[in-house]
Amino acid sequence: MSVPLFAIRPVLEPLFEEVAVRQNEVLRSGQYILGPEVEAFEAEFAAFLGVRHCVGVANGTDALTIALRALGVGPGDEVVVPALTFYATAEAVVNAGATPVLCDVDPSTFDMTAATAEPLIGPRTKALLPVHLYGNPAPMGELRELASAHGLRLLEDAAQAAGAKLNGRMAGALGDAATFSFFPSKNLGGFGDGGAIVTDDDGVAATARTLRFHGSENKELHTEVGYNSRLDEMQAAGLRVLLPHLAGWTESRRRVAAAYTENGLGGAVGLPVETEGSESCYHLYVVRCPERDRLAERLAAVGVGARAYYTIPLHRQPALREFPPRGPLPGVDSAAAESLALPMGPALSDEQVAEASRAIREVLAVN
Ligand SMILES: Cc1ncc(COP(=O)(O)O)c(C=O)c1O
Repeated sequence: MSVPLFAIRPVLEPLFEEVAVRQNEVLRSGQYILGPEVEAFEAEFAAFLGVRHCVGVANGTDALTIALRALGVGPGDEVVVPALTFYATAEAVVNAGATPVLCDVDPSTFDMTAATAEPLIGPRTKALLPVHLYGNPAPMGELRELASAHGLRLLEDAAQAAGAKLNGRMAGALGDAATFSFFPSKNLGGFGDGGAIVTDDDGVAATARTLRFHGSENKELHTEVGYNSRLDEMQAAGLRVLLPHLAGWTESRRRVAAAYTENGLGGAVGLPVETEGSESCYHLYVVRCPERDRLAERLAAVGVGARAYYTIPLHRQPALREFPPRGPLPGVDSAAAESLALPMGPALSDEQVAEASRAIREVLAVN
């Protein structure tokens, strides 16, 4: 039995017909940019998260750049970013004109914490940018306290966390603003690129709306140098079909995670650790194993999908050489060396989880 790394296609396929019908309606409407589908999706996604505003943009990277600028981050400012994340998190800080300051992560949860961020706060720090890595929410309570104590803005990179919760609140509703990516592999993944900025702050939302449209509210008067970065009507129509299924998919992903535990995987590898009070949406199911590379190779040979992510963390990326870390990052380095994503997805069966668990125990010679 082969076990795919991502089991998402079987849950999407039954919805293709409905997506095609809705996208066909867009096609016939003749309105492709910033029309009723985007407006409706923005309202529906904001309601799902429990926030006041959602601003649809072209992708999750632009969402970060625009959100940072809307929060007042710019040249001369520093933003504390975890060094274990997708490159775009820091890239957006640079593109907003600011300096990314790379911090360590908790080696068990893979997330930035108050303890890893605090030593890097200085007079130029303007914002904290925690990432809910692999769908596991960062400890936003303590990060909020830290941000308040130092007068900092708090932006969540929730690209991987659509559907996750912390103390009953949705990831994305926990900071001054949050950003999402609707890249196809994400938990709420569209049929192309897409992203969003969400916030309760009327001013931040209004600035983000202006920035996504060339710094203009009305196409005539341009008050800022902005971007051409809109979620388009085709994508919004597709996302509106998928959104009502997100909570169910998240439940299924959590069931898969629980099944790995029940199959005794904890005896072979370090299981993912959820932040206290959180419900991860398991964008990826990432375990720890000192023999990571051998395990990955052997699993591939027996048809079990596995992949190491962020093996070159941000402090080792040549493009960020201007922003060297200000101290050792042991949590990031150990995660980069030892972590491995195993099969995860809403359509993974109990048998597939049992098979993957059995194969892992066999490779590592654990019973
Ligand atoms: C943590 C994180 N931040 C930002 C992004 C950027 O999103 P996008 O690819 O939609 O630009 C991604 C995903 O690609 C991501 O995983």
